[in-house]
Amino acid sequence: MNTLNITIKTDNLLIRSITMDYKEQIYREFTGEIATYLYPKPPEDMEETARFIESSMKENQAGSNFQAVVLRKGTEEFLGCAAIHNIHTTTPELGIWLKKASHGKAYGREAVTALKEWADKNLDYEHLIYPVALENYPSRKIPEHLGGKVVKEYEEKNMSGTVLHILEYWIYPPVV
Ligand SMILES: CC(C)(COP(=O)(O)OP(=O)(O)OC[C@H]1O[C@@H](n2cnc3c(N)ncnc32)[C@H](O)[C@@H]1OP(=O)(O)O)[C@@H](O)C(=O)NCCC(=O)NCCS
Repeated sequence: MNTLNITIKTDNLLIRSITMDYKEQIYREFTGEIATYLYPKPPEDMEETARFIESSMKENQAGSNFQAVVLRKGTEEFLGCAAIHNIHTTTPELGIWLKKASHGKAYGREAVTALKEWADKNLDYEHLIYPVALENYPSRKIPEHLGGKVVKEYEEKNMSGTVLHILEYWIYPPVV
């Protein structure tokens, strides 16, 4: 499945396939603070962000990823990024980060809930994976809201060199 041209609408958000149009905003907003509990590190320069978008678009084209941006419905203000990685497997992985100014409005939950609903309709999966650092309480609320259960725990050094204690939540498809 090609995910180069998808838009999902929720009450407050649009989740839209990533394009180069968002290069500056991703570069500006993906800061060290935002990346604290994430595996990737902030980009050194805008070229690095451009390479990330280019490879994401190739994966979206190949059907191995759905890398999207999160926008405010109506204004189309850039809020952050969200993804379902490895969509060609039975265990796709969810990811989300929002810019600092957009925290505290439960947009993270709204976006990931919409991605889960999209996966339920479009993917044939066993469970979705949501790995999250133990101390990342706002993020942990998201899989817990979706009925996810912690199935694995491990230590992982992220690209910034911080060792994170990861809880891996599994979120299941609806029972039919
Ligand atoms: C994860 C993220 C997307 C969630 O953002 P959000 O949707 O704005 O989340 P909110 O601030 O609205 O908080 C969500 C929930 O966490 C709770 N929460 C917030 N801070 C908390 C804290 N320090 N301790 C406990 N609970 C907390 C809120 O009360 C809310 O609870 P509710 O769902 O029961 O109402 C956002 O924090 C983010 O982008 N973080 C940086 C990147 C990141 O860590 N991504 C996740 C990687 S796994």
